[in-house]
Amino acid sequence: MKKIVVLASGSGSNFQAIIDAVNRGDIKARIAGLIASKPQIGAVKRARDHNIPVAVLENPSDQDYTENLMAQLTHWNPDLIVLAGYLRKIPTEVVEAFSNQIINIHPSLLPKYGGKGFYGEHVHRAVLEAGESESGCTVHFVNELYDKGDIIRQVKVPVRDSDTPETLAKRILAEEHKLLPSVISELLTSNRT
Ligand code: GRF
Repeated sequence: MKKIVVLASGSGSNFQAIIDAVNRGDIKARIAGLIASKPQIGAVKRARDHNIPVAVLENPSDQDYTENLMAQLTHWNPDLIVLAGYLRKIPTEVVEAFSNQIINIHPSLLPKYGGKGFYGEHVHRAVLEAGESESGCTVHFVNELYDKGDIIRQVKVPVRDSDTPETLAKRILAEEHKLLPSVISELLTSNRT
């Protein structure tokens, strides 16, 4: 059975979508563990509710962070590493050790509205301020640069005149919850990881 490790920093609704897809049998893999950047986040509660092991890597120095992350990933030995709302950068050493095995979901049509500073509400606010007629979400491979790895798949979402960052975020998030499990399933079955 293939193994997935998820990294999250927030509420973990994308993590929940992965858990649900595994439980339905849509993703044929086991979630070996969650790496969380804080103990109190929603994603940790979701992991506990589903008996998924949790490792919290909270604000260690950069050197310790790289070593701890490497050690945890090596221990769980996943086929695929999924960043689901994970805000910390993945160190180059880890990207190289798990090349083409780390994916991220981003709430815009990359390469637009990606990179440093474009996270959460900032992304949707910038899309609205630019007067875009569409936005969406992107799953991509992770490299050393924020949001710059090869794009795997995107889904477009129309922007409405009445949209606020919150309403747009909500409509995109609903698409993320379908896109991310679908890409995970595809990558695991196509043996691309
Ligand atoms: C999502 O919008 C994702 O695209 C972004 O962070 C958000 C995480 O939301 N990278 P959640 O924690 O999965 O609810």
